[in-house]
Amino acid sequence: MPETWSFHSAGQIIFGRNAVRRLGEVAAHLNAKRILIVTDSILEKAGLVERVRAPLRENAVEIEIFSGGEAEPSLRAAEASIECGRPFRPDVVLGLGGGSNMDLAKITAVILAYGGQPRDYVGEFKIPGPIKPLICVPTTAGTGSEVSAASVLTDTENQIKVGILSNYLRPRVAVVDALMTVSCPPKVTADSGIDALTHAIEAFTAVDNADFPLPPAEQSIYQGRHPLADALAAQAISLIGLNLRRAVKDAHDLEAREAMALAATLAGLAFSNVGVAAVHALEYPVGGATHCSHGAGNGLLLPFVMQFNLPVRQRELAKIAKLLGEDVTGLDELGDLHAAERAIQAVTQLRADIGIPLRLRDLGVRPEQLRLFAEKAFAIKRILRVNPRPATVEDLEGILRAAY
Ligand SMILES: NC(=O)c1ccc[n+]([C@@H]2O[C@H](COP(=O)([O-])OP(=O)(O)OC[C@H]3O[C@@H](n4cnc5c(N)ncnc54)[C@H](O)[C@@H]3O)[C@@H](O)[C@H]2O)c1
Ligand SMILES: [Zn+2]
Repeated sequence: MPETWSFHSAGQIIFGRNAVRRLGEVAAHLNAKRILIVTDSILEKAGLVERVRAPLRENAVEIEIFSGGEAEPSLRAAEASIECGRPFRPDVVLGLGGGSNMDLAKITAVILAYGGQPRDYVGEFKIPGPIKPLICVPTTAGTGSEVSAASVLTDTENQIKVGILSNYLRPRVAVVDALMTVSCPPKVTADSGIDALTHAIEAFTAVDNADFPLPPAEQSIYQGRHPLADALAAQAISLIGLNLRRAVKDAHDLEAREAMALAATLAGLAFSNVGVAAVHALEYPVGGATHCSHGAGNGLLLPFVMQFNLPVRQRELAKIAKLLGEDVTGLDELGDLHAAERAIQAVTQLRADIGIPLRLRDLGVRPEQLRLFAEKAFAIKRILRVNPRPATVEDLEGILRAAY
C-alpha cells in the first residue's frame, strides 16, 4: 500500500482569453525554430490554425502542418502524422484540437524522438525518456489531455481504444484559451464537457491512495484519490454544474466557455494523477465497437457506474450532489444515502438536458455484445483498479445491462 502520493502536471499552464497570442514567446522559451502543428481540417477551416500560426510566424518559426487528424484517432492516423512530421525534423510538436489531435501530437512527439510504431508504446511506462517538446492548445473543454499523461488511440483491428501512459507524455506547455472553444458545435461541447465531468467524478470517487490495490511488482501512473487532486476535482464538478448547460445552449457565452475550459483542465490534473475508473474501462470497448464519441459513451455510462459505486461512496456522492448545485437541505439529515442518490439523478438530468444518448441501444449496441464488452473492460486492470468498488466481469455486465 502506498504511503505517499505525488502530483504531476504539464510543465507550464498559460490560461486565459487570447492566451494563444503568447505562443511566440512560448516558442522562444523552448528555443523552437521548427514546429510541427498536428491538427485537423475542421479546425483549419474554422480559422483556429491561423490563430496559432500567426504568433509563431512573428517569431520566425518555420511551420509544417499535419491536418489529417480525426475524431477518436486510429493507430493509422498516428502513423500518418508521424510520416508527415519526420522529413520536416521539427524541434517542437504542437497539438491543436480536442483530445484527438492532442493525443496524435503526443504519440508523434514520442516516435520522432525514439522511432518505432505507435503500437510499441501501448501500455504504461513504455516511453524511455523525454519526448520532443510538446505544446498543447485545446479547442474543446474537454479531455484534459493538455495536462495529462495519456494518449488514447483506436485500435480499429481489435475494436478497442488503447492507452499509452507515461509522465513523459505531459506537455511542456499547455495554452488554454477559451476563445478557441467558441466554434465547437453543441454536440462537441456537450460530449467533451461531460467527459470532463466524468474525469472529475471518477477522480473524486476513486479508491483512496492509501488503499490503492497495486500488486507489489507493478508500477502505475495512477495513484488513487489524494487531497490535492480532490480539491481540483471538486472545483471542476462545481464549475461544470454551473456552466455546461449554458455553454451547450449558447456557444458565445464566454463566461461559461471560460469556466468550462478551466474545469476541463482541473479535471485533467485530477484524473491524470488519481486515475479514471469503471466508466472509462467500459467506454473503451463500447466506443471501439460503436464509434460513438468518447464523451457520449462516458456520459451515457456515468450514472450507471455511480449507482454501482453508491454502496461504498455515499459520502462523496452526497458531496457531488451539493457541488452540482442540488438543494439537499433536509436530505443530509437522513444520512448521505438520499443526497448521494440526488447526485445520480442530477447527472442523469444533466445528461438528458445536453443531449447525450441515454441508453446503449441508442448507440446501436446489441444485447449479445454486452458480455464481450464486459470482458474487454475487465482486462483493463490499470483503470479498473482505480474503481472504489471492485468489479467482476459479472458486475460489469450488470452495469451494461442496466445501461442497455
Ligand atoms: N489523453 C487524454 O488524457 C484523454 C482524456 C480523455 C479523452 N481522450 C481522447 O480524446 C478524444 C476526444 O476528444 P474531444 O472530446 O476533445 O473531441 P475531439 O478531439 O475528438 O473532437 C471532436 C470533433 O470536434 C471538432 N472540434 C474540436 N474543437 C473544435 C472547435 N473549437 N470548433 C469546431 N470544431 C471543433 C474536431 O475537429 C472533431 O471533429 C477521444 O479520442 C478520447 O479517447 C484523451
Ligand atoms: Zn475521458
